[in-house]
Amino acid sequence: MKKIVILISGRGSNMEALLAANLPCTIAAVISNRADAEGLGIARNHGIPTAVVAHKDFADRETFDAALAKTLDVYQADIVVLAGFMRILTARFVNRYRGKLINIHPSLLPAYPGTHTHARALQDGVKIHGCTVHFVTPDLDHGPIIIQAAIPVLQDDTEQILAERLLYQEHRIYQQAVRWLCQGQIELDHNNYVRFRFPKQAGYSLISPGLE
Ligand code: GAR
Repeated sequence: MKKIVILISGRGSNMEALLAANLPCTIAAVISNRADAEGLGIARNHGIPTAVVAHKDFADRETFDAALAKTLDVYQADIVVLAGFMRILTARFVNRYRGKLINIHPSLLPAYPGTHTHARALQDGVKIHGCTVHFVTPDLDHGPIIIQAAIPVLQDDTEQILAERLLYQEHRIYQQAVRWLCQGQIELDHNNYVRFRFPKQAGYSLISPGLE
């Protein structure tokens, strides 16, 4: 069974959804760059080993990423899953885990890379928002896309309401992506495209606002 390590920085709800998903892999550890990340307690309650590699203890990104890689080696990580991990990783680190490092981002990439994705979607008046699971490449928030979920933006949505509704979809698609990766059903090819061993059909279409 493949070993996955989940990296978090805070609340850890995506991590918790992965822990509850009965995935076909061993969750070897949860690592945070912040000692006060709420998700660490949740992981411990699930009996998962945890570690902290505090970014503030390192002079620069290179040394932090080297320490992180060393800790990942301790747990013999085959797959590294970023779940609300809010640090930019260096190209050296990202390239080392090419095809084995995935992230979830709260927008329909390539729209809204970076932060405050829900507020920016509301401000732009888009009618469909969403989330994306992608392989991580050195190009921040632009890695090859594995799966996306789209939700309608409703008239009275606030940033918080939209975030909550989207989080539910994040939890659904992240476990699917991790499952595919653990089972060897997807891989990152030499042209940086995601290849499915058994090509998948799309789900329902979404029109927002709905047609009358
Ligand atoms: C999630 O919404 C995740 O998509 C986002 O942070 C939140 C973490 O919540 N990630 C990013 O913005 C990465 N660029 P969680 O800790 O409850 O999973």
